[in-house]
Amino acid sequence: MLWTHFTSGKNKFSRREPPGPFGLPVLGYMPFLGSEAHVTFIKLARTYGNIFQVQLGLQKVVVLSSIDIIKEAFGKDVFAGRPHSASFQIFLNNSSSSFSFRTGNAQWKFLRKVAMKALGMFASSRNSRLEAVVDEAADELFAELAAFEGHPSNPQRSIFDCAASVIGRIVFGLDFSSKDGALKSILSMNQKFANFFAVGSVLDSLPFGSWIMGSSVRDFVESIKPVEEFMKKHIIEHVKYCEEENDVRDVADAIALVAQQTPADLKGQLGLTDDRIRCSARDLFGAGFTTVMESIRWAINLLAVFPEVQRRAREELDQVCGDRPVRLTDRSNIPYNEAVLLEVFRFSSFVALSLPHSTMEDTTLRGYFIPKGTTVFSNLYAHHNDSQFFPEPDSFKPCRFLTIDGKLDSDAAQLVIPFGVGKRRCVGENLARQELSLLIGRLLQKFEIHQDPANPVNIRDAMPGLTRGAIQVPLIFKRIAV
Ligand code: HEM
Repeated sequence: MLWTHFTSGKNKFSRREPPGPFGLPVLGYMPFLGSEAHVTFIKLARTYGNIFQVQLGLQKVVVLSSIDIIKEAFGKDVFAGRPHSASFQIFLNNSSSSFSFRTGNAQWKFLRKVAMKALGMFASSRNSRLEAVVDEAADELFAELAAFEGHPSNPQRSIFDCAASVIGRIVFGLDFSSKDGALKSILSMNQKFANFFAVGSVLDSLPFGSWIMGSSVRDFVESIKPVEEFMKKHIIEHVKYCEEENDVRDVADAIALVAQQTPADLKGQLGLTDDRIRCSARDLFGAGFTTVMESIRWAINLLAVFPEVQRRAREELDQVCGDRPVRLTDRSNIPYNEAVLLEVFRFSSFVALSLPHSTMEDTTLRGYFIPKGTTVFSNLYAHHNDSQFFPEPDSFKPCRFLTIDGKLDSDAAQLVIPFGVGKRRCVGENLARQELSLLIGRLLQKFEIHQDPANPVNIRDAMPGLTRGAIQVPLIFKRIAV
């Protein structure tokens, strides 16, 4: 009976659930998942199709592997939930995270809208505020890279500082440089974060998981505390500043203003307090930090491994911008550089399984019954490695996104979905694309990036966890003479 429960594709009402592999009693498929769940899921999809389910201990997980099915599901409200898993609950109970880890109800909808509006201030190409922010952070980064004087050096810390500086300035109007002790605590929490949310963890899958993993849980919770104090301090400092839109200096101001302007009865209806609304700034800081840092790390590693790609991208920047730094308005004239960024997103697929969703009601998808509360993963890594859409997916080939006459192929570009799709698609997408286009472009204008022959870059493997972290080895940054 237990065996049947854990292995069957049909539930007790004999509604047809997605097919899936056999698993062990209690553990389900957990022991077979391996350290790269997204790769294991690709293998399972070959046998069971692009919608399959797998039992991970207590959790039943549905995995979607093709872009059409992911779009169909995540375009519906019913798939906009987040799992009620132990890791999510522990994080929510100990952090002020306002909406990104919470389920897709009316509160989430409102807070998401507020966040998008606040970010919109920075993410318009007519608006130079993002450029000014990137200018300052890039100057600091380039000074640090120049200080390596062409010797092989690990740029990890400098990239971390740069990403923190940009998002810190955007959200809180402050430069969190490495001199700020708070960055250390953010770094420490970040390192634990990826493992804490790993797919199929003992914590989320086994009965008494949080008891079994007690010391890791305590360690993670401790690591959140200083970050929370830091975030709260800055959020509180923004409370009284804004009376009207003209006063808005940064995203935290914009959010604080919305909190103040939202009618009390609407807040009551949604069960929101001003504090909860203001804490959306925390979500934006958290979500916009590691992701951008990871993109830069993958980009420089790949550019170091493919000098020809680097040369062509730099040549295009030289032709379009000459001696001046690349601007947001140049983006439509630098298709090769845009293609490089798309290929970095595709090749790295560093948010391999996106963030997990959960069904908010019983539902069906392509004829399969999916009960309320089922965790649903979208295997973005599988899609980005599907040779039907991306021939020779193992090769790093920015040209795949160009038309024969060298323009950006917008149909091909739209097939790259690192930000997810549908109702919970990343709210920072525009900002991230713009920030990365500027940062990577400017880096290429200033430096040649080379591998250290004694320590070659590994672009095939990645650090395990929620994201596929780039493996960072020392690189050589050679200043380009002006
Ligand atoms: C290259 C950089 C980035 C990548 C690859 C990325 C990717 C993603 C992905 C895959 C999701 C989950 C989508 C889903 O649940 O289906 C997400 C959600 C989110 N992202 Fe990003 N992101 C990036 C940058 C940013 C930035 C810069 C910000 C903010 C400034 C941001 C804010 C958010 C937020 C708030 C959510 C949660 C949305 C929700 O739950 O409704 N992200 N992102």
